[in-house]
Amino acid sequence: MKATAKAHTNIALIKYWGKRNEELILPTNSSLSITLDLFYTETTVEFDERLTTDIFYLNGEEKGTDETAKVSRFLNHVRKLTGDTRFAIVSSQNHVPTAAGFASSASGYAALAAASSKALGLELDGKELSKLARRGSGSACRSIYGGFVEWKKGVKEDGSDSYAVPILDQKAWNLSILSVMIESKQKKILSREGMKRTVQTSPFYDGWLKATEQELRIAKKAIEKRDFEMLGETLEKNAFKMHATTLGADPPFFYWQPATLEIIDCVQHLRSQGLLAYVTIDAGPNVKVICQPDDERKVFQTLNEIDSVKEIFVCHPGPGISYL
Ligand code: DP6
Repeated sequence: MKATAKAHTNIALIKYWGKRNEELILPTNSSLSITLDLFYTETTVEFDERLTTDIFYLNGEEKGTDETAKVSRFLNHVRKLTGDTRFAIVSSQNHVPTAAGFASSASGYAALAAASSKALGLELDGKELSKLARRGSGSACRSIYGGFVEWKKGVKEDGSDSYAVPILDQKAWNLSILSVMIESKQKKILSREGMKRTVQTSPFYDGWLKATEQELRIAKKAIEKRDFEMLGETLEKNAFKMHATTLGADPPFFYWQPATLEIIDCVQHLRSQGLLAYVTIDAGPNVKVICQPDDERKVFQTLNEIDSVKEIFVCHPGPGISYL
């Protein structure tokens, strides 16, 4: 009745941005990510018939009604799979700077899916685990696997073909992903809300859908050929297009801060000097800079000189889910 799982977060190179079904969390487009070695969540779930409600601890602190309700909603999916009605104590340790543009929900729900299903005696394979994690947060379905991962959007109404598949092992291609933190405040428009508004109101959304399908194909080709320049060019264009859709939304919004642009500028300058480095940005102001391991030091030192940069975490491809 008790299990512990560890899941690493991931960064999308081709973004998931928009749902076709909010309830089942089915995306409008397929996406592609790298699981990261440095950031992870460890979660223990214990079901107990003596409990009268679910209890949720995050980093040792008992959480209130809202956060516990989210966990409960997720546990209901697992309880439904087994017919179990028991409540659980969920205890998570988040080794991710929460809600600062780092997808802590990805590692969070992936770990919760693995620990809760295991605790109830379910032996889910990667595909089923990915579908379960997806019900908590879309990007979580990709954190089941290590290395390079594709979330296939699927076409079915019931979501049975919407799950992640591993496309290249963690050890097969080492890249450096520098997570550049400029601000640790809670972000204002969460990705869930932001993507919903964009789908509903942005006239640029159709353009996003068309382009992203092709960019996914190019990115996959680049990974197959280990062509870093081709991958970098594609992932940067894809990130910029995602952010461009938000400017067309009603009301319009954007995630960037002045420091976001300073980092983009710095990376483009490095590129003009012949160093291959590229940026990607999620639903927040922080920037992830992707380069080859040989250039990691130089990129780190250059970014570290920017005043508005608070901290830089150097990541590499990380592993998939594990049980402790
Ligand atoms: C910009 O997976 O956090 O990071 O499914 O609503 O929980 P929900 O959204 P979430 O969105 C991630 C959006 C993104 C791009 C990506 O990770 O692909």
